[in-house]
Amino acid sequence: SQVTFIERDGTRRIVEVVNGESLMQAGTRAGVDGIIGECGGSCMCATCHVYLTDEDFARLDPPDAMEQDALEFTASHQRPTSRLGCQVKLSAATDGLTVTVAEA
Ligand code: FES
Repeated sequence: SQVTFIERDGTRRIVEVVNGESLMQAGTRAGVDGIIGECGGSCMCATCHVYLTDEDFARLDPPDAMEQDALEFTASHQRPTSRLGCQVKLSAATDGLTVTVAEA
């Protein structure tokens, strides 16, 4: 399936993703600018912070308590549709997701 990443300068990157990997893994593998994944996916760094559209946010399972805390305490510029990319598991159900790399 595919995910579209919108980088901070507005560049749209369509990435072929593997079901089972995380949004952060897909983004770092594709070299998406601004997706770093510094902590390796353990909810500590928020260098995988992305904004979803309202529709996409609603069709995913909601963030768990650990992710919510990490967003609140670690991520700058948190928005209602913020997610940590390392906590979003990609599957057939997420095909066509469009995410925007969060502000630094
Ligand atoms: Fe560090 Fe997601 S990779 S919080």
